[in-house]
Amino acid sequence: MKERLQKILARAGVCSRRKAEEHIKKGRVAIDGRIVTEMGLKIDPDHHLIEFNSKPVSSPEEKIYILLNKPSGYVTTLNDPQGRPIVTSLLKKISSRVFPVGRLDLDTEGALIMTNDGELAQRILHPSFEINKTYVAKVAGRPNQMKLQQLTRGIELEGRKTSPARLKILNTEASTSTIEITIHEGRKRQVRKMFAAIGHRVLELKRIAYGGLKLGSLPKGKYRFLSKKDLKKIFS
Ligand code: URA
Repeated sequence: MKERLQKILARAGVCSRRKAEEHIKKGRVAIDGRIVTEMGLKIDPDHHLIEFNSKPVSSPEEKIYILLNKPSGYVTTLNDPQGRPIVTSLLKKISSRVFPVGRLDLDTEGALIMTNDGELAQRILHPSFEINKTYVAKVAGRPNQMKLQQLTRGIELEGRKTSPARLKILNTEASTSTIEITIHEGRKRQVRKMFAAIGHRVLELKRIAYGGLKLGSLPKGKYRFLSKKDLKKIFS
């Protein structure tokens, strides 16, 4: 997108817009190797080399935040030695290098936040924020209340008790149950391990909310950009 040269220099943190005008007048700014002194020139910084005092001006990378409805069968790493599909391949026309915030198993579906903002990703993942993640799990059999209470209170997994969880039975079928579970920890395959520990294997798993940010009706494999308001919801 074309923008005024002064604005590009200011946004890149070189100087203020007013100062930029002075620098341009004094011949300190070049485009594609040629000094420009013309005022108000509009150029596309993605297609031209802009230099200030002979040094390239790099525009600060725009931060983007995405909510993807991850389908099963995609890995959340940025490359996979086994050649399985990676989640970033579902993003179209995004030139910035975005990465998933945290992980979802290959066979888990649902809400995955992706961004190029390392700082925000660290905050979201930091255990001190205890951000709730809500999943819908289809499990084998019909776990009774006593077993579910074990998960609610916390259960020993690999020598360490899990934090209390919130559980709600959504549906019981002939040989399976659909249960909503909310946890704030992020141990590897935690939900699967928790249900396995009470003897009920997880058959399907979908994350439906990240903090107060809900997946809603976003179709499988599709994504949407998150607004500032959405980002706040993650921490609410
Ligand atoms: N818990 C799991 O078991 N798997 C996931 O992908 C996420 C949470």
